[in-house]
Amino acid sequence: MKTMRELCTEYQNIVLDLEDAVAGTGFRGKREIQAPRIILQKPAADQAALSRTVPPVLEEAGGGGAGGGMEALAAEIRSCRLCRLCEKRTQAVPGAGVPGPLVMVIGEAPGEEEDLRGEPFVGPAGKYLDKWLQAIGLSRERNVYIANIVKCRPPGNRDPSPEEADACMPYLLRQLSVVRPKSILAVGRVAAQNLQKTSEGIGRLRGRVGTWQGLPFLATFHPSAVLRDPLLRRPVWEDMQTLRDLIGGTAGTAGTADADTASAG
Ligand code: URA
Repeated sequence: MKTMRELCTEYQNIVLDLEDAVAGTGFRGKREIQAPRIILQKPAADQAALSRTVPPVLEEAGGGGAGGGMEALAAEIRSCRLCRLCEKRTQAVPGAGVPGPLVMVIGEAPGEEEDLRGEPFVGPAGKYLDKWLQAIGLSRERNVYIANIVKCRPPGNRDPSPEEADACMPYLLRQLSVVRPKSILAVGRVAAQNLQKTSEGIGRLRGRVGTWQGLPFLATFHPSAVLRDPLLRRPVWEDMQTLRDLIGGTAGTAGTADADTASAG
């Protein structure tokens, strides 16, 4: 029987391996990654939030069916001209993933590759994000939905302006009502600040479980920032464990993600 400390160390090594794989700095090849089975009990307050299917504030919004509603909304986003970001975009990037996910990941804005492909987080930061999610049994194919604060690429990858973020926020709220996630993970300062309506830095915002639109909310660093600064790996790993704690019991009962699936791939 392994101690909790041993299990955590094992997980940490998995994440470091995955980071090495992405950074191309000596990944140790095809070593099979075995995730230990950890079922963590969620605090009572989180249980209540997780058992909700629709954020209370959105119940009146009329979500509609996930599939059809999502497609119609995506079409609307693709033809949006509400702010000047539409002028320079190749295409808008509505979002990607499954309806009813355990986690809705919210990033900042599409980058160059996303703008070209019309999908969120498909560049190096996205591949790295996928590794983080995979380490705790999550993937956009099975139990995650990914969206951004703004749906069109800001020129030169600058931060979206407050006006651009405000213009796009109704789309994110409508996505929330259609997608119906169980929890929210904001990646990066821009996402965390816009969702929590604060100017606090990401170093202070990250790692604290809060709520957004009635759902359990967690923020962490942006994968691009972690690719640039390896010192951020450890706090991100801690945040992934916190996220795992939040969704752990739900993952088991929903059959969409459990400790076993974390070892897949
Ligand atoms: N960074 C983001 O915040 N979102 C993306 O979709 C891609 C990169």
